[in-house]
Amino acid sequence: MTFFVHTYGCQMNMRDSEAVAMLLARHGLQPAATEDEADVLIVNTCSVRGKAEDKAIGKLGMMAATKRKRDGRIVGVMGCMVQRLQGDLFKTIDGLDFAVGPRRFARIPALIARIADGERHLLDAGIGDEDIDDLSGHEEGAVTAFVNILLGCDRRCAYCIVPDVRGPEWSRPADGIIAEVNSLVRAGVKEVTLLGQSVMRYGLGNPVWKPAVPPSSRGYTEPFVRLLEAINDQTPLMRLRFTSSQPSGCTAVLAAAMRDLPAVCPHLHLPLQSGSDAILRRMRRGYTTATYLEALQRLRETTPGLAITTVIIVGFPGETGSDFERTRECMETAGFDNAFIFKYSPRPGTPAAEWEDDVPEAEKRRRNQVLLEDQDRRGQRINEQLVGETLVVLAEGESPRNTQRWSGRSATNKIVVFEPEADCRVGDRVAVSIERAMPQTLYGRMIKKEG
Ligand code: SAH
Ligand code: F3S
Repeated sequence: MTFFVHTYGCQMNMRDSEAVAMLLARHGLQPAATEDEADVLIVNTCSVRGKAEDKAIGKLGMMAATKRKRDGRIVGVMGCMVQRLQGDLFKTIDGLDFAVGPRRFARIPALIARIADGERHLLDAGIGDEDIDDLSGHEEGAVTAFVNILLGCDRRCAYCIVPDVRGPEWSRPADGIIAEVNSLVRAGVKEVTLLGQSVMRYGLGNPVWKPAVPPSSRGYTEPFVRLLEAINDQTPLMRLRFTSSQPSGCTAVLAAAMRDLPAVCPHLHLPLQSGSDAILRRMRRGYTTATYLEALQRLRETTPGLAITTVIIVGFPGETGSDFERTRECMETAGFDNAFIFKYSPRPGTPAAEWEDDVPEAEKRRRNQVLLEDQDRRGQRINEQLVGETLVVLAEGESPRNTQRWSGRSATNKIVVFEPEADCRVGDRVAVSIERAMPQTLYGRMIKKEG
């Protein structure tokens, strides 16, 4: 039996799809080269914005329609949309066989077996008894990998469906994380990104689920920082990243760890969402622009050259022109290296969905465009300062656009496209002299391999 997983959404979804693919392979299924050839088709879904759900439903409808052409084909849906829409999905998508929520992926092989035995419309969207260690497999050959450390979210921002669909925060025990990182390093991985909605809340949530965090040899007190230290000390990993962060987690202890732990990269993804305090309050983000900027300052003082990326929502209910201008100013003050901009989309069941979605679509589009243009100018300016510098880049392989050139990322997470030397290999750390800058990419020439 062959399978194919089609993925929508964030890095966490990409990681979940990979984990499910590896789990299915362990259960004797083979990955299909293309969707057309697969016996089992699975769509991994995103619920963060309405459009992402519409696309997934359209895709599933098309996949289910192909069952007529291929006998025994199984179509399933996994992820956030399942938790939100539950059994209604079987009514919306004619021919859908199974639906699995984000905390139940380990059960997918069993569900497929039951469908193959003739059962239909199987739904598993429970939460609890996490079996995440079954989901620790990774594809071979990669030099970078994602590792889950914190499932779910307890913060409940007013616009966000994630706490409903991914459930309460659950911190994964540290020993499983460290074992996963060690096995990745043995397989050739050089860079790991730890994933969670608010990674700095690792180990702070539900006391019943408190993970076993190893004691600190440097006197660190916070569980997330102790986890970084443990990975730094107990694995030979070259580069360690994490996402997403929140300002309250950017403590002096974290700042010290980012300075003192060689594996931890000088890059932070710190979602701002809005630069207006009135909007931040209504979003229930738990910080103000002042406390956000202070958090940045704390980290920049100890980690010079720290790169910061962010996420902004435009057109939140009640966002006035002057709120929007505050966002522009705050983004400039923060000096973001890169920013993702989203147009607000009301999610049924969230507090913000009760408020009038009063910024017209055309205005949301305009604000989105303005922020992208601002960010391009800012990115260009920041990156131009790197022209003439030498950056250490993790070589990831040929550039997708031009196979004569290679691409990789700097420790600050900038994409660097470079002319390789003959001895350049995937996974090498190479020194690249930067010759040209674009808002999101640096271009240069390899000088030598780093040790
Ligand atoms: N925990 C992370 C990411 C959550 S979801 C955080 O704190 O940011 C990923 C991003 O989707 C969010 O950062 C937010 O910018 C965006 N998002 C979430 N809900 C949204 C909505 N209803 N409309 C538009 N964008 C949304
Ligand atoms: Fe969503 Fe806020 Fe959690 S954006 S994922 S509720 S931190």
